Order: sequence, then C-alpha cells, then structure tokens
Amino acid sequence: MTQNTSPEPVVAIVVAAGSGVRLGGEVPKALRVLAGRPLVRWSVDALAAGGVTQVVVVVADGLQDTFADALVGASVPFAVVVGGATRQESVARGIAALPPGEVVLVHDAARPLVPADVVRDVVAAVRAGAPAAIPVVPVSDTVRQVAGAGSIVVDRSGLRAVQTPQGFAREALLSAHAAAAGRDYTDDAAVCESVGYEVVLVPGSREALKITEPYDLAVAEAIVRARG
Ligand code: C5P
Repeated sequence: MTQNTSPEPVVAIVVAAGSGVRLGGEVPKALRVLAGRPLVRWSVDALAAGGVTQVVVVVADGLQDTFADALVGASVPFAVVVGGATRQESVARGIAALPPGEVVLVHDAARPLVPADVVRDVVAAVRAGAPAAIPVVPVSDTVRQVAGAGSIVVDRSGLRAVQTPQGFAREALLSAHAAAAGRDYTDDAAVCESVGYEVVLVPGSREALKITEPYDLAVAEAIVRARG
C-alpha cells in the first residue's frame, strides 16, 4: 500500500487591495519596494518560509497584471483576484478563489517581514484545534481612551496589538464570512468571533510590523539589513 506522506496544504489569502494613502507614493502600498522587492513579494515569500503551499493575492481592479508581474519568481504558486471596497470584502473575494486546504491563513500584504516562526505557530494552533489563531504583541505605549473633550488612561497590561497572518480552520472562516457579510470588521478574527468561534492567541513579533507610514518602511529596511 502506498502512503501519502505529503504534508497537508496550508493555503493563504494575501490582501493587497488597499490604496495605502498614508504611505504616499505613486504606486499602491503593496507594490512599494523594500530592499529591491515589492512588499507583496516579501509577504508571499514570508508565508512560504512558514509552510504555506499556495497563495491567493487580492488586488485592486485593473492591477492584476502588475501584481502578477511583481510576483514572478515567488516561492509558491499564486493566483491574483480582484478585491472589494473594504478589507472584509477583499478577504471574501479571496475565499471565493481558495484552493483546497483545511488550514487557511489571511495575511496583510503590508506586513512583509513576518518571521517564519510566527507563521508556523499560527498554523500549529489551528492544527491543534483552534478555529481561529492570531499573533499578538503586548502594547508598549501607555494608552488613553479619548471620550468627548477629555480622555482616560487604559490599563495596558490587558491589551494586545493584533497582527497577521491570522489562521483559521477552513470551515470556521468560510461560515463566519458568509454570516458577517456586509458588516465591516478590520480583521478576520473579529469576523469569526462575531459568530461565536473562539480566538486563540499566539506570540507575534515586532518584525511583523505593518507598513503604514514612510517611517515604517525605513524600519523595515533596517530589519532587512540586520538580518543580513
Ligand atoms: O487599511 P488597512 O491598513 O487596515 O489594510 C490592511 C490590509 O488590507 C492591507 O494589506 C490592504 O491592502 C488590504 N485591503 C484590501 N482591500 C481593501 C482595503 C484594504 O485588500 N478594500
């Protein structure tokens, strides 16, 4: 009898359909170049390094060919699909194009340097039974909640900043997105939580920073240099 020893596929949706206005520049954020490679290429390769076997990249309408060109030579097979008006809609479009695989990651193209260990930890948590698993880091700033003209301090010890990739059991992600269609959650863990799925936290990394402003790109360049 022949045994199938090939590992279970881990598939990922990379959302890259935002405009990235806060970063400025002529091209969409995910196509901005970091150390010689577009951010989206870094993100896809980072997922591949963590065990992802196939990727769906979600992009703004009209940019499919540009993104496909930017991804030539990527470490894993990819498909390019058109996104929607919100991040949640873009993920839903990615879901519609997903290849087979029981573990599904959703990653922001804007987090190009997520370490492979973080990706692996997210996948492991889903394989261990979590319907949703997300990487988080402690909040280092003191935080205040603004309320009208005033503000109050918030106890930061109980706060965590949420990163991507977020990992899901396929059925949990699909059913939650179907149920939450039309609402506007900023991440997929919130989509899953809205229909009652438990969200498991795993340690994230400062290196998985989200490129939002020009300063973040400079930090990312420094991280790449430090990695050698
Ligand atoms: O706007 P925000 O920083 O939360 O976007 C996070 C990610 O979601 C980015 O990678 C962005 O390209 C993506 N996005 C998307 N479709 C949208 C809005 C954002 O794919 N309509």
